Amino acid sequence: MDSYRAPDSIVIHPSILYFGTPVVLITTRNADGSTNITPMSSAWALADRVVIGLAAGGQGVANLRREHECVLNLASEDLQEATERMAPTTGCDPVPDWKRANGYRHEADKFALAGLHAVASHAVSAPRIAECPLQLEARVTLVVERPVDDWRPGPGAYVIAELQVLRVHAHEDIVVPGTQHIDPARYQPLFYLFRHYVGRGAALGKTFKAEV
Ligand SMILES: Cc1cc2nc3c(=O)[nH]c(=O)nc-3n(C[C@H](O)[C@H](O)[C@H](O)COP(=O)(O)O)c2cc1C
Repeated sequence: MDSYRAPDSIVIHPSILYFGTPVVLITTRNADGSTNITPMSSAWALADRVVIGLAAGGQGVANLRREHECVLNLASEDLQEATERMAPTTGCDPVPDWKRANGYRHEADKFALAGLHAVASHAVSAPRIAECPLQLEARVTLVVERPVDDWRPGPGAYVIAELQVLRVHAHEDIVVPGTQHIDPARYQPLFYLFRHYVGRGAALGKTFKAEV
């Protein structure tokens, strides 16, 4: 007979549900031609599409709606400090009341603030972030806005955006030589887990579909 005993569990009411997703630094073009960086982590990928979730009312959202393109720059573990320097800022000027109430200030040049470097993209106007090991140039294929009535202080809505990846740039040292594959042993993504930054830990195995 199976002697398995399920772990004890309790019902909780956490304030957020960031259960651990990679940190993405989204570069978008501002109306004046300068570049904004939006740190985020609510993203998932399927085929050549990436779906992202962003609070409505931020600068990155406004830029995505206007320009219909961006670069998804995947942060690595060593970019934790740079990411956190940008964390309390927004490209919005003036800062919306709900953002100010959440402790945000305006920052026009997030590259300088974070000590990051811009490099030109191939297919979109927003530049890539040189330090990020994976950079996905993308165009916006869908934007849906959804209300959240009890989000306080909050913008009252979030945006789901579907992006089609047009071009993938990878640092050479994370690519298996002579192939199109990322080397999982050398790629060290930064994760956002219940408002803490964590790394990837030890390798645990691979799925039957792994190609390397
Ligand atoms: C590690 C990290 C992950 C974040 N993830 C998200 C997210 O998934 N969605 C979101 O709307 N905001 C997220 N934020 C908050 C945004 O970065 C914040 O709203 C910022 O002001 C957006 O900048 P912008 O207004 O210049 O676009 C995250 C912040 C950090 C530091």
